[in-house]
Amino acid sequence: MNGGLRLTVLGAGYLGITHAACMASLGFDVLGVDTDHVKVDQLNAGHLPIYEPGLGKLLRSGLDAGRLRFTTSYQEAAAFGDVHFICTGTPQRPDSGHADLSQVHACVAALAPLLDRPCLIAGKSTVPVGTARRLAAELASACPGAELAWNPEFLREGTAVADTLSPDRIVAGVTSRRAEEILRQVYARPIAAGSAFFATDLETAELAKTAANAFLATKISFINAMAEVCEAAGGDVRSLAQILGADPRIGQAFLRAGLGFGGGCLPKDVRAFVARAKDLGVGDAVGFLHEVDAINLRRRTRAADLTLELAGGNLAGVPVCILGAAFKPGSDDVRDSPALDVAQILTGMGASVTVYDPAALDNARRARPELCYAATLAEATQDAHVVLLLTEWPEFAALTPGSLEGIVARRNIIDARSALDPAPWREAGWQFRALGVAQDTVATADSA
Ligand code: UDX
Repeated sequence: MNGGLRLTVLGAGYLGITHAACMASLGFDVLGVDTDHVKVDQLNAGHLPIYEPGLGKLLRSGLDAGRLRFTTSYQEAAAFGDVHFICTGTPQRPDSGHADLSQVHACVAALAPLLDRPCLIAGKSTVPVGTARRLAAELASACPGAELAWNPEFLREGTAVADTLSPDRIVAGVTSRRAEEILRQVYARPIAAGSAFFATDLETAELAKTAANAFLATKISFINAMAEVCEAAGGDVRSLAQILGADPRIGQAFLRAGLGFGGGCLPKDVRAFVARAKDLGVGDAVGFLHEVDAINLRRRTRAADLTLELAGGNLAGVPVCILGAAFKPGSDDVRDSPALDVAQILTGMGASVTVYDPAALDNARRARPELCYAATLAEATQDAHVVLLLTEWPEFAALTPGSLEGIVARRNIIDARSALDPAPWREAGWQFRALGVAQDTVATADSA
């Protein structure tokens, strides 16, 4: 079914490892390429450098079947591949909102001079609109046998394997029928199983990813804006979200109010979109995304202000426990983690902050070595004056007042992810605060 196509995956980050292992599981011979030889050795030994449910098993079965291996050699990749997938990172530039495309350029620059037979280069990285057209022109002059397509990836961390093997949609930005046919061959199994396939131009394919992330971010910031209104006016955003989401035109998905979005994609993609639109002279068209970003960041300062309030107006030396470091549960990724930002803000306000996370502690320690971490939940909550639930891991959602009795010094808790039922906490004498729920509403619920 796979037409004997041999695939390379350039960049063994989150996206690249997932794509390589999934393509091998679909029956392709796959060569993963990364310049980091430590990572390459680790992957060839079957060790996954990231946390992703189901991916380790897929990696090892690909290696065992002889369909998957990793190398540092672009020479090998050029000789091996019929289709080369660009899966390198496009982080935010330190000096602006623009995406840093240096890894994408480096990978094309390394591969292109070595190509001596017809092949398709399919970009999967999230890039500003216009990047693919520019790369295609460069390739056309440097190696006429190589054609460029853009095939954005929509996978979510935590469900990356299922999202790759059974995507809602496959987008193929192409400039020829041949490129479309090759991508249809690569994705023949998911297409046969019902994934929608959209062939389009390069620009629309790039925008398909940027616009999707901008929309998702907007949806989250919309409900978080409503949370601000609820806090001021008296209301409960959780109930509001349920009611709004019951309208099928709106839908429940991505209406979970709380500490907002983080991670390696949504925040930087929103900023890169704004920066690119400005460059194109249409900055006003996406001006609202500034506000989407601002609403999102305000949730972090709001969580810190609530902590200050619960601590009686002074955080100097106050022991505060932060539950969560990952940007979302089911991941060990701490890139642009709202939880770690709140930890940082509170530390700056003088609090004595201890952070605990069931999966992301190592990454958190590396990213923010100045923060203080605990190895267990019990250690983190010991003697705390305020406990903040900032990432909704199941073990935090399962907390009860009884489980913290005699451990914390003061009974103050902030649920920033709508993960807990307030009633038992209030009944047990806790000061329970949640983002998006007015204090008056809490009092009313208490007296009810
Ligand atoms: C996202 C997109 O969903 C995915 O399609 C794209 O390819 C990459 O970016 P991911 O970053 O893995 O995926 O996480 P996602 O599940 O989308 O959550 C992003 C952030 O939004 C998390 O911090 C999450 O906690 C937050 N979120 C999500 C909310 O605050 N409320 C919601 O209702 C949903």
